[in-house]
Amino acid sequence: MSEQVTPVNTRKVFVKTYGCQMNVYDSERMTDALSKDGYVATDVLEDADLVLLNTCHIREKAAEKVYSELGRLREMKKDRARDGRELTIGVTGCVAQAEGKEILRRAPAVDLVIGPQTYHRLPEALRRAKGGERVVETDYALEDKFEHLPAPDRARTRARGVTAFLTVQEGCDKFCTFCVVPYTRGAEVSRPVAQIVAEAEKLAEAGVREVTLLGQNVNAWHGAGPDGAEWGLGDLLHRLSEIEGLARLRYTTSHPRDMDERLIAAHRDLPKLMPYLHLPVQSGSDRILKAMNRRHTAAEYVALIERIRAVQPDLAISGDFIVGFPGETDEDFEATMRLVETVFYAQAFSFKYSIRPGTPGAEMDGHVAEEVKAERLERLQALLFSQQRAFAARCIGREIDLLLEKPGRMPGQLVGRSPWLQPVNIDAKGSEIGDIIRVRITDAGPNSLFAEAIG
Ligand code: SAH
Ligand code: SF4
Ligand code: F3S
Repeated sequence: MSEQVTPVNTRKVFVKTYGCQMNVYDSERMTDALSKDGYVATDVLEDADLVLLNTCHIREKAAEKVYSELGRLREMKKDRARDGRELTIGVTGCVAQAEGKEILRRAPAVDLVIGPQTYHRLPEALRRAKGGERVVETDYALEDKFEHLPAPDRARTRARGVTAFLTVQEGCDKFCTFCVVPYTRGAEVSRPVAQIVAEAEKLAEAGVREVTLLGQNVNAWHGAGPDGAEWGLGDLLHRLSEIEGLARLRYTTSHPRDMDERLIAAHRDLPKLMPYLHLPVQSGSDRILKAMNRRHTAAEYVALIERIRAVQPDLAISGDFIVGFPGETDEDFEATMRLVETVFYAQAFSFKYSIRPGTPGAEMDGHVAEEVKAERLERLQALLFSQQRAFAARCIGREIDLLLEKPGRMPGQLVGRSPWLQPVNIDAKGSEIGDIIRVRITDAGPNSLFAEAIG
């Protein structure tokens, strides 16, 4: 009988990711870092020796979800202890950064708390936690975490699919009065060009066809180019579009104040740059924009969109909105509705204002009643959804390039993304995943399109 070789030290990590795409990216980097210590990722919670909750602090609901999840994990840990099996519980992400030690107090089962700027210290923190210490790492680290985090692992990148995120900029210096991000992600930092190019090349080698550059203010990215000149995001996109294998580039999230000429021109000059722009405006009322510290007017935003559409008429615009910011009157809200009518959004995200402790907005007068917020949100979402449907309807009959991403709902179907980021269903074989094919849009459902291959 041959003896089975069981790898020693193989432990399993389950990562649950909340919040934005940067958290998705961070979860991947943490999984890659832990694999060096023998941890294998699992999708099955019950199999895990280590559970990481990668959390979001943006709205109250998002933050509170974490504590209910920690309550469930505490029970699981107790059950395990009875069987003599360990469970290590870690909290990472923006709640970790914002609440730090407070998490240990509120959730006694938690072993480690690690903020976004110290992920490269995760393996070491884990060893300390295993030694019985309750670890809290929430300093803004002096060293560059990206230099210490392993590059995306080839096999895991391949398994993750043909699209990938790549953080190029992190943190925020804008201090919008409603927002926690400057406190949870720290000051604005741009990764150097060489680091970004090397990572993008690794992704391409592992079969990735589409890369989305990430940043809280991605278009504030800047750095020294190889020629010594100061580069902005437009220049970086030019450089990345030279990478063979990468067929499509996207970036998110942009701030209206950081859309410079080079970036706008990139939408005209770079065929690989997809005609999609996520440009949050939050409100259409100048009074509210001022109170939010957005530092532009509604008219400036609309004029900016017109400038970008002038160079790329086929652009899909998406946005974020907040209703019920302190002091928002019916009139202010109507200004938001008018702005939406003017811009015409292909997609949008809208939220009721959520009070965030420690932000200036929390201290302001004139908090809006919950039912008023709900009513405004409903009206805004109805308008935004009707625009999304109208945008999709306009796509019917068009011929586009479609990147085939993954299996669809029905056998024999795949799902891809249109240039405008809509999911597109099509009959295709699994072996075609990663291909870009020419298709004609035949129909539009509420949240996705249908297409047939041509040629
Ligand atoms: N950096 C991006 C936004 C990051 S947060 C920008 O400047 O636009 C993502 C979205 O969450 C925001 O655009 C905003 O619409 C929403 N948001 C942020 N704080 C919020 C709060 N306190 N209440 C409700 N929505 C909020
Ligand atoms: Fe938050 Fe404003 Fe910074 Fe965006 S720009 S992350 S909304 S503070
Ligand atoms: Fe949430 Fe932090 Fe992203 S607060 S939205 S996970 S930057």
